[in-house]
Amino acid sequence: MPKITYINPQGHSQTIDAPAGQSLMQAATNHGLKGIVAECGGSAMCATCHVYVDASWTDKIPAPNSTELEMLECTASERTSQSRLSCQIRITSDLDGMVVTIPPAQ
Ligand code: FES
Repeated sequence: MPKITYINPQGHSQTIDAPAGQSLMQAATNHGLKGIVAECGGSAMCATCHVYVDASWTDKIPAPNSTELEMLECTASERTSQSRLSCQIRITSDLDGMVVTIPPAQ
C-alpha cells in the first residue's frame, strides 16, 4: 500500500498507509490528521483541503483541471506553485513515498 507523508504547519510529519484509489484528502481524514478540513467532502467546492505538494512529486501527478485551478484562488493560506486540492489527487502505487505539507490555515 502506498505510504504518504503529511507534514503539519509546525513541521511534524506523519506517514500513513494510503489505499490506492482514495484521494489524498480521504486518506488524511480517515487517519484523523488535523489541518485538512474538507468541508465540501471532496467535490472541489471549498478549498479547505489545500496542501503543498513537495516539489519532487509535482510532475508525478496530473495537472489540476480548470475547476481545481479556480478553487485554488480561494485558499486561506498563500497559494504557491505547489498548491493543490488534496481531494483532487487520486492515490496510485506510483505515489508511494509522496510528501505533502498542510498549510497553516484552511
Ligand atoms: S474537500 Fe472541498 S475542495 Fe477538496
